[in-house]
Amino acid sequence: MLEGKRILLGVTGGIAAYKSVEIVSRLRKKGAEVYVVMTKSATEFVTPITFRSISANPVYTSMFDEPKTWNIEHISLAEQVDVALVAPATANILAKMATGIADDFLSTVLLAVKSPIFVAPAMNDAMYHHPATQKNLGTLQERDIRFIGPTKGFQACGTEGDGRMSEPLDIVEELENYFTQHKTREMSGKKVLVTAGGTREPLDPVRYIGNFSSGKMGYAIAQAFAEVGAQVTLVSAPSEIAVPSGVEVVQISTAEEMYSEVLQRFPEQDIVVKAAAVADYRPVVRETQKMKKSGQRLQLELVPNPDILTTLGQKKQHQFIVGFAAETQNPLDNGLEKMKRKNSDMLVVNDVTLPGAGFGTDTNIVSFLFANGSRRDLPKMSKLEIARQLVKEIANLRSKTKE
Ligand code: CTP
Repeated sequence: MLEGKRILLGVTGGIAAYKSVEIVSRLRKKGAEVYVVMTKSATEFVTPITFRSISANPVYTSMFDEPKTWNIEHISLAEQVDVALVAPATANILAKMATGIADDFLSTVLLAVKSPIFVAPAMNDAMYHHPATQKNLGTLQERDIRFIGPTKGFQACGTEGDGRMSEPLDIVEELENYFTQHKTREMSGKKVLVTAGGTREPLDPVRYIGNFSSGKMGYAIAQAFAEVGAQVTLVSAPSEIAVPSGVEVVQISTAEEMYSEVLQRFPEQDIVVKAAAVADYRPVVRETQKMKKSGQRLQLELVPNPDILTTLGQKKQHQFIVGFAAETQNPLDNGLEKMKRKNSDMLVVNDVTLPGAGFGTDTNIVSFLFANGSRRDLPKMSKLEIARQLVKEIANLRSKTKE
């Protein structure tokens, strides 16, 4: 259940901070991505290097460190995580959370997190039972903050009582339970069509005109929709990538084949994502026999292919349509123009010339452009993560339009 989940772990300054190293290790072993944020006091108990090594991610300790990415870190981190967990959660962080104080990275990021927040309180028995703490706990409970523990037992100060942080094993189990119960099936019953890969336009029985698209982005999108319960059809140009489980695949080769398979299925779809790199032109003549070389210059005559996305934009009724734009210059301006021209509801734009972006790579750097003119820039991330973010955005937009 934790596979691929993104978890923000806030570590505050309690003696139990050393146990959080085990939490990270257990979460990682179960396939989760963990982003650790430490308060200044926490760094007195455990060093950030320990968490960095165990989580294999940068550790956030201050609002004013040299940024690890170019974007506003506490906001982008908050937007990307599936849950946040504060363990150990001292009386101090609980008080800050209850009153909305944002005076360091952790308290600030927690104000921006929209996903569920779990806390594992850890403090001395007297502090735990103090009316101020109890009042804060009540406030947090009303706000749907989820509590894990604390438990009763021996405390670092030598006393026995309430306020001991739950064991890492139990904390991880609680998170697993949460994901089991709330297995996000937000696209359950929705029909989604995704196109992927680069079309091939044959010249003769052995040659074609193609492009560098690997299909990775489209396949990742099909997987991300399937993960949240959608009924996914993947119309794919030839690709080496394994078809994600639960996804129905329709193999095509040329732009015209893609056009007819997509158009035929369009009326019953709820969402269409056009990640494929469709050839804009095809040879006028497709030779039936292999073309022999003559040693002379060869001129090929090409005719335009139908633009599938444009056609969908003209025919759309209830469908939500997402286009892609791979650009080599002015990606945002070109992307916006393309989205309007093709009447898409959203466009994913990337500058394929950037390192870590574009064709064949496992990562990409994209911006989401929306029909209302707004945009969201994502930092470099894996294509699967981008795909999951895309699914989240579409789910949000669709739930807003229903309200
Ligand atoms: N697309 C399509 N049919 C085509 C060409 C493109 O459906 N014949 C779709 C792509 O799947 C993508 C979007 O249109 O979602 C943008 O593709 P892109 O190649 O960036 O745009 P073009 O319209 O071809 O514009 P240009 O090549 O001039 O940048």
